[in-house]
Amino acid sequence: MPLREVVTEDCGACHGGRLRGGLGPDLTPDRLRQQGWTVDALAQVIRHGRPDRAMPGWAGVLSEAQIKAISAGLLDGRFLTNGARK
Ligand code: HEC
Repeated sequence: MPLREVVTEDCGACHGGRLRGGLGPDLTPDRLRQQGWTVDALAQVIRHGRPDRAMPGWAGVLSEAQIKAISAGLLDGRFLTNGARK
């Protein structure tokens, strides 16, 4: 599955199709940058999740390269340009 679909569909199920938040928090570049998130910090949360707080870990599902690419993409907004679902 292309990464864009993983993000807008799998992550979007909880974070919203345009990542503006739902069950999980807003993951748009503006909010993440405002809060000082880095690629490494995002990758850490995505890899292990927050087990007691409804955020699943993705280490067994996504490769390390995919986790890094998603983290970088959340910060630069590449998943929110044309093609992302509303
Ligand atoms: C089953 C619902 C669910 C799915 C699916 C999900 N998340 Fe989350 N996510 C959450 C929740 C809930 C939180 C907030 C956890 C907390 O309260 O600390 C969260 C937190 C996060 C955070 C930390 C944000 C912050 O400000 O604390 C990141 C980054 C994140 N998710 C990325 C992702 C990515 C990337 C995916 C897809 C690979 C994904 N999530 C899929 C529910 C989900």
